[in-house]
Order: sequence, then C-alpha cells, then structure tokens
Amino acid sequence: MRINEKLLHKLLQTFGPSGNEELICQVIREEIKDCVDEIKIDQMGNLIGIKKGNGKKIMIASHMDEIGIIATGIDDHGFIRFSNIGGVSPNVSLGQRVRFKNGTTGVIYMESLDHIKDLKLEKMYIDIGVDSKEKAQKKINIGDVACFDRSSSIHEDVIVSKALDDRIACYIAIETLKQLKNSRHELYFVFTVQEELGLRGAKTAAFGIDPDLAIAVDVTGTGDTPKSKPMAVSLRKGPAIKIKDNSIICHPFVKNLLIDTAKEYNIPYQLEVLTHGGTDIGAIHTSRSGVPSGAISIPCRYIHSPSEMVSQSDVKNAILLLSKVLEKEI
Ligand code: CO
Ligand code: ZN
Repeated sequence: MRINEKLLHKLLQTFGPSGNEELICQVIREEIKDCVDEIKIDQMGNLIGIKKGNGKKIMIASHMDEIGIIATGIDDHGFIRFSNIGGVSPNVSLGQRVRFKNGTTGVIYMESLDHIKDLKLEKMYIDIGVDSKEKAQKKINIGDVACFDRSSSIHEDVIVSKALDDRIACYIAIETLKQLKNSRHELYFVFTVQEELGLRGAKTAAFGIDPDLAIAVDVTGTGDTPKSKPMAVSLRKGPAIKIKDNSIICHPFVKNLLIDTAKEYNIPYQLEVLTHGGTDIGAIHTSRSGVPSGAISIPCRYIHSPSEMVSQSDVKNAILLLSKVLEKEI
C-alpha cells in the first residue's frame, strides 16, 4: 500500500476552519462519490457517505474542520486583531502566516512585551501588508476566518503539515472506503464539522444516524519527544486504540473488537490513555440512549501547530485495521 500523496496534499491544503468546511466538504465528496450508495449533507454541514448493507449500522467519524483564527477588529493602520477558532496557542502562532478564504495572507506578530510569558492572542495582530484601515477593509471583514498557511511535506517515514488533525483521518476513511471489499454492514462514513469547537457536528450526526456502533478516527499526542509529558504512545508503533480520554471511556466490546482484529491480522497497535482532550466519539457515545463506541487514534507530534507530524506506517496500519474491523461479522 502506497500513500496517495496527491490526495493527501489536497486534503491537507484545502481551506476548512471550523464552521467553514464547504471547500473541504466538496473535495471529500468528489473523492468518495463513486464508492458509496448515497451521499448526504445534513443541516450542520456534516458529509455522510452511506454504503448499504444488512448487518450492523456502523458510524465511522473523522472531522474535516481544522483550527483557525477569526478577525475581530481592524485598526487605523490596517492591522487585524483576532480570536481563536479552536485550540490556537499564542506561542505557536507567533511569526506564522495565515491565509483567509479569499486568498489574503498575513503574518501573525505581537505588540512589544516585557515578558514573553504575557503573550496572549489579545496582544497579537495580523499584518496583511497594507497601511490603512480602508485598504484592509477591501480584503478582510470582521468575522472572516483564516487557517495556517504552510506547505505539507512527505519525507522519510513521516508526513509534516498543518491540519493533519484531522485530515489524516479523513484520508484514512477515504482510503478505507476505496479498499473495502466484503462488508455486510450498513456503513455511515461521516466527515464531521466543528469538532475543534466542541464536537458539535458529531453530536447531531450521531442523533440523525442512530448507529448500533461507532468508531472515530482522530490524532492523539505522543510521549516520545525530548522531555515530553509521559504518555505511552509513540510514532511508528502502530495506530493507537483508545481506552480513555476526557470525553469517553471506550465501550469494552468495541475496544476489544479493535484489539482482537489487530492481533488476528498482525497489525501493530498501541493502547491510548489520553489525560486531556477529547474527540468526536465523546459526543457520539452519549447520543440518544447510548452508542457502543471506540476510536482509532493516529499518534501525532506537535498537534495544533503548523507542523504536525505523523508516521506513514501508522497511517497505513490504521487503514488496514479499520478495513478489517468493518469486514468482520459483528
Ligand atoms: Co484538534
Ligand atoms: Zn482532531
């Protein structure tokens, strides 16, 4: 199995901060339309590809939104003040470039500060290269959103890019759909919106679909970099099967289904206990009267930075694991 670099680049570079997923939604829709029996976009904007079957109703969720910023004000000299869409760190943003939907790019920088630890988004601004409010207003309105502007690279065993959270999971879902041969189940591949703002799309999608079982795919942190917070997940040791994060304790049936399948097909895997954060599955498992749920997590360094990093081998093994699970009798 080789990584489809062209598709991956397209998924990573397409604009889609939370609440503005239209463009990435179109890209994914084009990509999956020939592999599903039906495509829907619900009221929230979730893209749902349905593959008919008469087994269990299974929801597979990956979020298509990415973190970003939103313009909150423009000063007399054309500098733009902004707030965050999702988890944007001031330190990581300093000196980065951002791109608005209309293509306008800018540099994030800060006011002069006595102590760098005082750095907050309120002390920062975006310089789009104009020298007056009027000129800035021709390009940017209050409420316009932008994402990091940074190229993606694939080298050695790694992929480095902005938006790997969670486009790498969109890639895994798309490739799984393309390769899937013998699933009896009724599969709902959902590309959710607004995960980064609090799992909002997954919540309504799960209610609408009312699945028998759900699996989310998202990135997770690692404990394998210098003096990192201890965490028993590393790059290249296989996809991580979620035990727990702050949004869920995974259902034993789904957790064991994932573990047993990995063992059966000799797919390397690791177990994930994330002590902070959550993902779509947190909202899905408490839908209606509850949905047995689990998650496949892709080990990822530098999450929510313009240079997130995952391993190609973990991605390939995640596709294999997800395909084998969906082909199983459940
Ligand atoms: Co995220
Ligand atoms: Zn994510």
